[in-house]
Amino acid sequence: SLRTLASARGLLLGGAISGELFNADNPDEAATINREYNAVVAENAMKMRAIANSPDPDNYLFATADAMVASAQKNGQTVRGHTLIWHDSAPAWVYEIQEKTAMRAAMTQYITTVVKHFGNRINIWDVVNEAISDGPGNPLRNNNPFAVAGPDFIALAFRMAHAANPAARLCYNDYSVEGLNGKSNAMYALVKGLLADGVPIHGVGFQSHLDTNFSVRDSGMQANLQRFRDLGLDVQLTEVDVQMVGSGSEKEKLARQAQVYGELLSTCLAVKCSAFMMWGVSDLTSWRAGGKPLIFDGDYVKKPAYGALIKVLQTA
Ligand code: G3I
Repeated sequence: SLRTLASARGLLLGGAISGELFNADNPDEAATINREYNAVVAENAMKMRAIANSPDPDNYLFATADAMVASAQKNGQTVRGHTLIWHDSAPAWVYEIQEKTAMRAAMTQYITTVVKHFGNRINIWDVVNEAISDGPGNPLRNNNPFAVAGPDFIALAFRMAHAANPAARLCYNDYSVEGLNGKSNAMYALVKGLLADGVPIHGVGFQSHLDTNFSVRDSGMQANLQRFRDLGLDVQLTEVDVQMVGSGSEKEKLARQAQVYGELLSTCLAVKCSAFMMWGVSDLTSWRAGGKPLIFDGDYVKKPAYGALIKVLQTA
């Protein structure tokens, strides 16, 4: 299985689990996860809108997330925590906070409560997710409610998470940063600045929501990942999926998808990455199921991309 081969090299390999499916006890989903993954991440259950969505900021809902963690522990799987501070998952009450001190207090309380709740059951966190905009020059997003806390809101989040669990590896996570490009340059400058300021950041997550037109080589992905490794940071591919796009027969697209998956994993291993996480399990339940982006098809049958990952783990 993937997990046996990955564990033998100390690599976390796994994927996102959906709370709905988990609760529905879909036997194929659960069997596949437990057979193939040595690491899991909640697709939604640990987001702020899942944990703290009630109008009362003091009301925390941990039931779904706790059930997933318990299952992971039972099955010997590491859990990645995703994600503490993300503009896209901020509940309505966060938007009502307009004052700097109050926002700092709210962030501190939320991060401290959640990180301490899971304690050593979760020792890797995506502390801040997708703070960099896609616009010209890639500044930080201007629609981020947490920015009310001040220009150092990212540093604050990492400091609070570290105080709550000093053993945890703390990551910044973003998309469209896999290759050498303007956004990955902005992310590099951001994390370099955080390190220079003594902020406890230990890793970077490269989401890797890609498609079959993506060229690992032409994008400069290995050089990009390596420059983050050279800062002493963990590098993790955190949300890998590769949509099947373009012309050609289904067979050709599956082959191209397998090639991209294989190259992503071998590039990850080449820079001594610490995790290769996919965003889901099968094409049945992917957040972009139309693109059939995962390594198991809608019937949980292994696709050529699965074989490509096995081959890389056996040879690279
Ligand atoms: O839970 C409600 C349910 O009660 C309701 O009936 C249903 C009706 O639409 O919505 C459910 O919530 C949805 C949730 O997924 C669970 O299915 C939300 O509307 C929907 O917005 C949410 O989408 C998730 C999205 O993040 C936003 O949080 C996707 O499943 C999830 O795959 C996606 O994951 C993100 C990563 O966290 C960050 N990187 C990008 C990635 C893909 O967008």
